[in-house]
Amino acid sequence: MKFFLDTANLAEIQEAVELGVLDGVTTNPSLMAKEGIKGLDAVMSHYRQICEIVDGDVSAEVIATEFDEIIREGEALAELHPNIVVKVPMIKAGVKAIKYFSEKGIKTNCTLIFSAGQALLAAKAGATYVSPFVGRLDDIGQDGLQLVQQIVDIFSNYGYPTQVLAASVRHVPHLLQCAELGADVVTCPLSVINGLLNHPLTDKGLATFLADHKKVNS
Ligand code: G3P
Repeated sequence: MKFFLDTANLAEIQEAVELGVLDGVTTNPSLMAKEGIKGLDAVMSHYRQICEIVDGDVSAEVIATEFDEIIREGEALAELHPNIVVKVPMIKAGVKAIKYFSEKGIKTNCTLIFSAGQALLAAKAGATYVSPFVGRLDDIGQDGLQLVQQIVDIFSNYGYPTQVLAASVRHVPHLLQCAELGADVVTCPLSVINGLLNHPLTDKGLATFLADHKKVNS
């Protein structure tokens, strides 16, 4: 399973790269705003910096909602770096744009997926990734992980090459359940990846080993 970081924070991306487990990055306009990045030049330069830090796919989201504009924005983003994946919202113009980009060999991530039908449409249009939002479905009392399961099963039934990128992954159990379900990728905050490190028995065991080592070596 690939680990993507869901952030536009360069220090966090650097930290995950240094841990040696990062396969890519996803961003969205809210995450870019959180970093205080304003204006087209700053946005484009920030994407370039992310691509220089991580050796893997970097999703950069279009703002446009009309077909022609999505194409114009997406092509400009794709020109920034070979690892850029154009993130396109699940709307009619977005599906058409995914088809267009797929025929041009431009990678896409269809975002804001909340149903299996939406994922199926995006896969048929040739999306590289679909992003079901696990946490946001949980937030409204639906089962985000069940959606991941449904999409994994459907893509497997027909051998779609589209990868299931579980997004809006909020905590360690989410990540592990996505792994059990066979999601190709999870994208999550750095705290979730760091959370995989922790177990109280590891801390306790290490403290004992170090104390015993000290006893015999002092
Ligand atoms: O990038 C899309 C998704 O991962 C957002 O997550 O936590 O804002 O629902 P969240």
